[in-house]
Amino acid sequence: MTDVASSLEALAKRLAAAVEAANDEQALEAARVRYLGRNGEVTAIRRSIGRLAPADRPGAGKTINDAVAAMERVLDERRAGLAARDVEAALAHRIDVTFPAQPPALGTIHPIRRVIDDACAYFERHGFAVVLGPEVEPDYYNFDALNIPPGHPAREGFDSFWIDDTLLLRPHTSPMQIRTMQMHKPPIAIVAPGRCYRRDAVDARHLFQFHQIEGLLVDRGIHFGHLKGMLTGLCRTLFGAYQEVRFRPSYFPFTEPSAEVDTTCPKCTGHASACSMCGGSGWIELGGAGMVHPNVLREVGYDADAVCGWAFGFGAERLALVRYDVDDIRRFVDSDPDFLEQLGTIS
Ligand code: PHE
Repeated sequence: MTDVASSLEALAKRLAAAVEAANDEQALEAARVRYLGRNGEVTAIRRSIGRLAPADRPGAGKTINDAVAAMERVLDERRAGLAARDVEAALAHRIDVTFPAQPPALGTIHPIRRVIDDACAYFERHGFAVVLGPEVEPDYYNFDALNIPPGHPAREGFDSFWIDDTLLLRPHTSPMQIRTMQMHKPPIAIVAPGRCYRRDAVDARHLFQFHQIEGLLVDRGIHFGHLKGMLTGLCRTLFGAYQEVRFRPSYFPFTEPSAEVDTTCPKCTGHASACSMCGGSGWIELGGAGMVHPNVLREVGYDADAVCGWAFGFGAERLALVRYDVDDIRRFVDSDPDFLEQLGTIS
């Protein structure tokens, strides 16, 4: 065998190994350039022809051309193989009709919306109407008409976002008591859910934007027992049949007597002394309630000797904390889909 033929044979073997090892188009092209490219190894062999006897040159030229053609076929075959492999991979991914279908990602109703809806539904079943009102209110509806005149210390307790001297973002839903009574004569039976705003520092129990559900019942002969019954029923509907509810004496200018309403802590169910959720008290506060103050009834033109009523305002986030056993209120506004999805499966 001539020198040319034997170096071509060795070169073809190395090329074949490189082609075999090439796993993509780029590696293949690198191999081609290295062996068959203008400055590649075959070119070096071609140049060596000049040193042969003139009679041997045409034969050597043909040997080189044949070897190059063979090597190009090896490259082409591999290129076609790689391309077919890629197409196959793509197709396998796209049109495997036997592949199990992906279940569609369904949204869930936000836990705050759900407690509000369920609380409203409970009251609607008892003959209450659901009413909605503005989030920007004059101080008259937020305070004056609720027996909190200018300068009254209770105004401070509501830490409000003021828009100008008289307008503010409502810090509670109680303005809806006034708006409803101004528009309708007794009997009144309404619930008013909605957003409220207070300049509170955000922590595990507080948001500066939150939701309340207000309730108001006014008629002849209404008493505190009705209030206790309705709110205990609400908690048992939302949280379960054995849920306890506690009324603690308190003060609100627009109710007399007034109470703060607590329910059993879902985490320790009232038994643990070092519970992180309720601080060991066994109770979670839901909001305030009481018998509507006669001054409030008089303000809207009602006869406070003929009719009376009760009102309450519960924090919707508090209801959701207890219902879903969540220990940080901020989780409700984090928009974490895993968290929301998980709660979405709890009834
Ligand atoms: N509006 C009161 C608050 O936000 C709660 C409340 C409503 C209390 C109705 C009594 C009656 O603190």
